[in-house]
Amino acid sequence: MSGNPVSNASRKILVTSALPYANGSIHLGHMVEYVQTDVWVRFQKMQGHTVHYVCADDTHGTPIMLRAEKEGVTPETLIERVHAEHYTDFSDFLVQFDNYYSTNSEENRELSGRIYRELESNDKIAVRTIEQYYDPVKNMFLPDRFIKGECPKCHTKDQYGDSCESCGTTYSPTELINPYSAVSGATPVRKETEHYFFKLSECEDFLKEWTRSGTLQQEAANKMGEWFASGLSDWDISRDAPYFGFEIPGAPGKYFYVWLDAPIGYMASFKNLAAREGLDFDEYWNADSQTELYHFIGKDILYFHALFWPATLKFSGHRQPTKIFAHGFLTVNGEKMSKSRGTFITARSYLEHVKNPEYLRYYYAAKLNGTMEDIDLNLEDFMARVNSDLVGKYINIASRTAGFIAKRFDGVLAEVVDNPVIAELRNAAESIRESFDKRDTARALRDIMALADKANAYVAENAPWEMAKQPEKNTALHEVCTASLEMFRLLTLYLKPVLPKLAQSIEIFLNIEPLAWRDIAQPLAAGHRIEAYQHLITRVDPKQIEAMVEANKESLQATAAPAEPAQPAPEEASYISIDDFTKVDLRIARIANAEHVEGAEKLLRLTLDIGEEKPRQVFAGIKAAYDPESLKGRLTVMVANLAPRKMKFGLSEGMVLAASDERGGPFILSPDSGAQPGMRVK
Ligand code: MSP
Ligand code: ZN
Repeated sequence: MSGNPVSNASRKILVTSALPYANGSIHLGHMVEYVQTDVWVRFQKMQGHTVHYVCADDTHGTPIMLRAEKEGVTPETLIERVHAEHYTDFSDFLVQFDNYYSTNSEENRELSGRIYRELESNDKIAVRTIEQYYDPVKNMFLPDRFIKGECPKCHTKDQYGDSCESCGTTYSPTELINPYSAVSGATPVRKETEHYFFKLSECEDFLKEWTRSGTLQQEAANKMGEWFASGLSDWDISRDAPYFGFEIPGAPGKYFYVWLDAPIGYMASFKNLAAREGLDFDEYWNADSQTELYHFIGKDILYFHALFWPATLKFSGHRQPTKIFAHGFLTVNGEKMSKSRGTFITARSYLEHVKNPEYLRYYYAAKLNGTMEDIDLNLEDFMARVNSDLVGKYINIASRTAGFIAKRFDGVLAEVVDNPVIAELRNAAESIRESFDKRDTARALRDIMALADKANAYVAENAPWEMAKQPEKNTALHEVCTASLEMFRLLTLYLKPVLPKLAQSIEIFLNIEPLAWRDIAQPLAAGHRIEAYQHLITRVDPKQIEAMVEANKESLQATAAPAEPAQPAPEEASYISIDDFTKVDLRIARIANAEHVEGAEKLLRLTLDIGEEKPRQVFAGIKAAYDPESLKGRLTVMVANLAPRKMKFGLSEGMVLAASDERGGPFILSPDSGAQPGMRVK
């Protein structure tokens, strides 16, 4: 890669992965990034460089605030719980952060405030009055994603305030037809408010130069070109209370927009690490820093990292990133990850069913080539690849030769006699090193597996199992098995960034120190004693994959089965307590949509808005009594906390109340005027 120091002199490198949002679980899409970064970090550490790999949870913003509120906990409690989950998921995938911190930290508060002050003193902050949609029920300004309405172009209902999922048009929330608040259901009103802006338009010259200086991949640089062509607008960095985040110094009631403090979270995590390990924070962040800084990110957040972030750093007197490495998005079986197909796979469910994290690390590494192309996890191919490469090719070399060393030679090795295959393995080092350094792990692994093929051919040609039957070939047997294990050692060294745990158990088996890159030139010594060979890896079983996909489908079903009463209700239960009654969460719902269900005799499919981010789908047996058209837009009452139930036609996420007996019905209920979607009925 151009601009990278190629010498082997020890470098000081700070590496980050994007900070995952604290409002959801880690899934296999996320893992692409953390595996890619971890492989690169481990590779650089094996080179002998000083590398710090930091990350954190991204904890601020409206979605997290509202989710905590819905769960009835404080945001702090929510983010603490999610932090623990995320950290365990990453550790179990062998992602080895030097620090995994939180953006809701004192270090981050202080750094964000200080950077803001610097921007201010460099005249990069402007205060302007803007008009924004305001929810008069919830008393808050609404982010675009929390305003919904009809698409101004294709007229699809219930679209988000920034873009239409049906026709793809992007627009501003004020263009929506019949907008409503996704938080309360109320009709939003326009209201003036003061916002703080970072004058990005004044940073254009700097950014143009910076993005052309080789810090970005070609595809990313092209994307920048498009953005420059349409002109840079100033960046709105403030949000009004209520907001979960940091209050802006000197601006009561105004908070930093989450994307202002999130990248500063990289610095804050490093600051926390530096204090713990006695590192010099300024050496890494001063404007004249000689250290290297790399950000691994997904292509969706390029704008933030290639424009806002370098400008923020530059005009607050800090260094800028050495490079930004963007990757593509994960698809599963060729399609976007999907909950209904069971391909929205959480990191946890992979660990529960497939178990071995190194299979996935290997598969992702075999697909990633350092570009922004999307990558596909094809589950069939995943199994085939892992079984044939790891079990069939790589481990096979040891499993076919190690036993003879133990049985016939008391675990002691002969001298490694130079042979052409070993020489080839050793000579490939530089090219493999380059591929890893360029993040073209696909190429690195292709080359390594080609070498494994050669090692296997060597074993097959010499057929140690035949030699073992001929006493006069004892010395040759000793040499062939030793040479094979030296090949195995070299392959293990090359694969170690990807398969660190397997490498560790092989180091124990070979009775050697942890392998570093310089050990390529250090063959196993004559007279060295190895441990008995133990089974190192098992094949992926198709049943594990099936179970994982089922589990991700079933995670819906698990909660779906309505609990059967264990016993008939006792006689005296004809009264209930007020506590019993309040267990039923009744809500005013707006019928956003109603439609016939193909193949269903009695049911209508209702889309009910109760002020949540996503409307509920409920199947109601009211087809005989209502024309769906007549229901649209009406308010009614629903049970909001009934366990979701999986029906033939889809998931039913609640129940609509209706009256009926032999005199007629069903009749659904209507509240008096004034009631708003989401209001509790009690
Ligand atoms: N919180 C922001 C990042 C702030 S960085 C200062 C964020 N969080 S995220 O949880 O949505 O995503 C974290 C990382 O995972 C991002 O780099 C994102 O691109 C990546 N991925 C999330 N889903 C992904 C796929 N399906 N495929 C590949 N990467 C994906 O963005
Ligand atoms: Zn549309």
